[in-house]
Amino acid sequence: MRKAVIAGNWKMHMTCAEAQAFAESFKPLVAGLPSDREVVLAPPFTAIASLSSSLAGSGIRIAAQNIHWQEKGAFTGMVSAGMLLEHGVSHAIVGHSEPRKYYSETDEQINLRARSAQKHCITPILCVGESDSQREAGEAEKVIRRQVQQGVDGLDHSRLIIAYEPIWAIGTGKTCEAAEANRICGLIRDWVGYSDVVVQYGGSVNPGTIDQLMAQSDIDGVLVGGASLDPEGFARIANYQPV
Ligand code: 13P
Repeated sequence: MRKAVIAGNWKMHMTCAEAQAFAESFKPLVAGLPSDREVVLAPPFTAIASLSSSLAGSGIRIAAQNIHWQEKGAFTGMVSAGMLLEHGVSHAIVGHSEPRKYYSETDEQINLRARSAQKHCITPILCVGESDSQREAGEAEKVIRRQVQQGVDGLDHSRLIIAYEPIWAIGTGKTCEAAEANRICGLIRDWVGYSDVVVQYGGSVNPGTIDQLMAQSDIDGVLVGGASLDPEGFARIANYQPV
């Protein structure tokens, strides 16, 4: 039985003070979650340490929003696995469409990031997904398959999460239809070739869409952006009830 992973990607939001206030409101709302799921929050690097101490003992896990493949060195602006482990980070997002787009991250670099995470017992959350124009051109499956195959090369599939995030659904309010998201998540599972790999959906997930998404057979969780910034809304998402 795959455990559902409900993750919040805060992107470039939340100071330390805001993250602490979020934690105080959020913790009691998810204190009684069923054991079939876990909750992960990905704050910006600067808020990891304070959020980690605010969440100590709560069972809520911390993810980094990226990770470098080197241990240390002349890599301005980057953070290594060892630096993240010091603050109790258990997961790291890699290959999100925003760094793919804004910083031209390649599948090869993304794979190196994921490998470095696993080497340090950090679970990579590998994001894949097609753009609007790629979907319209009928290339969605080809693009996602390439991202998956290059991204997971050499990884231990039992310590890996893949997030299917169609770019056209991110921050647009256009959630991918549950049946279509489920179909792509199923394909991803086949391409990885490991039936227990955890596959999430991400893209405009909100309290109104979560129950239907989590009722799908191949969707094992969600990666939530905007709706994870509100403690009540994100707690509703974490308390999903499949319909
Ligand atoms: P939204 O939920 O804001 O669409 O963002 C999704 C996302 O990019 C999560 O990584």
